[in-house]
Amino acid sequence: MRERLLAAEKVKAIDWRDGALHLLDQRRLPFEEIWLACHDAASVAQAIRDMVVRGAPAIGISAAYGVALGARLRLAEGGDWRAALDSDFSLLAASRPTAVNLFWALNRMRERLQRLRDGDDPLAALEAEAMAIHLSDREANLTMAQLGVDLIRRNQGNLQNILTHCNTGALATGGFGTALGVIRGAWLEGMVERVYADETRPWLQGSRLTAWELANEGIPVTLNADSAAAHLMKTRGISWVIVGADRITANGDVANKIGTYQLAVSAMHHGVKFMVVAPSSTIDMSLATGDEIPIEERDGRELLEVGGQRLGADVPAFNPVFDVTPADLIDAIVTERGVVERPDAAKMAQLMCRKRLH
Ligand code: MRU
Repeated sequence: MRERLLAAEKVKAIDWRDGALHLLDQRRLPFEEIWLACHDAASVAQAIRDMVVRGAPAIGISAAYGVALGARLRLAEGGDWRAALDSDFSLLAASRPTAVNLFWALNRMRERLQRLRDGDDPLAALEAEAMAIHLSDREANLTMAQLGVDLIRRNQGNLQNILTHCNTGALATGGFGTALGVIRGAWLEGMVERVYADETRPWLQGSRLTAWELANEGIPVTLNADSAAAHLMKTRGISWVIVGADRITANGDVANKIGTYQLAVSAMHHGVKFMVVAPSSTIDMSLATGDEIPIEERDGRELLEVGGQRLGADVPAFNPVFDVTPADLIDAIVTERGVVERPDAAKMAQLMCRKRLH
């Protein structure tokens, strides 16, 4: 499957070249493919905040390159460059609150900085660390695709109708995707009849990004309103809901794009299996349960307007962009370290003791 996934690769969103971070501007998709070049940490933080780049692993990877860019500037400025770089770390850490991959990647970059020895080239070391984070996410995607496909095959091997939410593909990761990586793998194995993509209000990651990625690869995809999901499960023979995650806590609770929780409740009611796919960089063992996850709330205009055009009455809008699905609604969490079925605290702790499978 690895070779077939690699051969089918069409989209990438993050490119480190010529000493700059190039990001495919996801605010403009699917209509325009515009790349933005970031040359310093501040522009990377801004790109994350404004969702030029989005998706938990992609945010972490971008922040890591942001540190490498910050170090170059701070060293060129002279003086106490490590102290100055601290403010870049803070700026990047403040860009978005929910996806833990951001903090995980920043911690890795900080640890690399602390391991520098006399005579080491800090720029080369930090750039290499950011590239390693990027590459290992890509590898994790490939491993998870294989594990997720094996899980589907073990449950029901025949053709599947799959429902997914938000965008978890090449645009959201360093490679092929988390949930969408499993869906791609299942398609290559001839196991997918049709993918239903929730439009994912209000930012429309489903209709603008997931539908675009799947259509580009010739994978049959049908778009549905988020509110059609329960009806779909009842009438269209959905066998799996497959989603990604932005933070998974020590007991297996999962924060993901707003709307995921109601999908899990509906899936349980309809006997549809519910799979979460995320690299172990998304697991935050420092939080006991999902109640402790900071949930980002964004500007109400994302809800009240489309393309700058006001849609609704002039009232306040509540716009939390993530929710928490309790572990007991989840059939399986697929990571590059292995699969946890019916997650709980003991199984999550065991998983984190395992080595990566790649
Ligand atoms: O607000 P976004 O678009 O950054 O949210 C992304 C999601 O919620 C994804 O489902 C999640 O990050 C998994 S992506 C591999």
